[in-house]
Amino acid sequence: MAIYSHCTSAKLLLLLLFLAWRADPSAATDHIVGGDLGWNPNINYSSWSHNQTFLVGDLISFRYQKHTYNVFEVNKTGYDNCTMDGYAGNWTSGKDFIPLNKPQMYYFICDGFCFGSMKVSIVVRPLPANATAPTKALAARGSAAEKSMAVRRVADLVASFVLGVVIGLGMM
Ligand SMILES: *[C@@H]1O[C@H](CO)[C@@H](O)[C@H](O)[C@H]1NC(C)=O
Ligand SMILES: *[C@@H]1O[C@H](CO)[C@@H](O)[C@H](O)[C@H]1NC(C)=O
Ligand SMILES: *[C@@H]1O[C@H](CO)[C@@H](O)[C@H](O)[C@H]1NC(C)=O
Ligand SMILES: *[C@@H]1O[C@H](CO)[C@@H](O)[C@H](O)[C@H]1NC(C)=O
Ligand SMILES: *[C@@H]1O[C@H](CO)[C@@H](O)[C@H](O)[C@H]1NC(C)=O
Ligand SMILES: *[C@@H]1O[C@H](CO)[C@@H](O)[C@H](O)[C@H]1NC(C)=O
Repeated sequence: MAIYSHCTSAKLLLLLLFLAWRADPSAATDHIVGGDLGWNPNINYSSWSHNQTFLVGDLISFRYQKHTYNVFEVNKTGYDNCTMDGYAGNWTSGKDFIPLNKPQMYYFICDGFCFGSMKVSIVVRPLPANATAPTKALAARGSAAEKSMAVRRVADLVASFVLGVVIGLGMM
């Protein structure tokens, strides 16, 4: 009996993990600017941004010392020249999450420290074609296919669970 219940909880855990993983297969990525270095002067943010793949729906987040630094979204002119004219947004919380909702270039600078290299430009790419503009039929077909795949994988798990129990019982 001990083997049986041990086996059951292990399989249950596996199943739960599997379901949790399945629940959101296309989770958005949070791109933390500068990684562990955060949003600070004298960091090459071009290197950082070139090492990331930004997709529509992702987030970019800035971690920095509140009251000292800040984040302004500007256009290319603002980025090139460290100017704020007609800026699209500003953030000051010290831990700002900014959604990247459009496939375009985004430019962020820190007012007052832009010349000390606190500027970052990123290219946000569209999602793969099928995910962005599916017809309803295609979308339905896609999710049906995903579901049948999921069902099959659950079935596989259940089957291996049953096999495990049978083997487990056989060994007792
Ligand atoms: C930052 O790194 C990029 C390559 O990732 C390089 O082209 C650029 O010259 C660097 N900028 C500075 C100021 O070092
Ligand atoms: C680029 O990403 C790789 C893998 O995540 C990492 O090992 C490397 O340090 C990164 N380079 C920079 C400049 O952030
Ligand atoms: C600002 O940057 C742009 C390029 O984006 C450039 O053409 C322009 O001469 C720069 N200076 C000013 C004052 O706008
Ligand atoms: C950026 O915005 C300023 C102010 O609205 C404008 O004068 C400038 O032409 C814009 N630059 C670009 C590249 O759109
Ligand atoms: C930044 O945004 C806040 C509102 O969120 C506003 O009160 C403040 O004046 C803005 N800062 C600048 C420099 O525009
Ligand atoms: C898009 O869907 C078509 C047919 O449904 C498929 O053949 C193709 O591989 C898909 N492309 C991507 C990028 O998923």
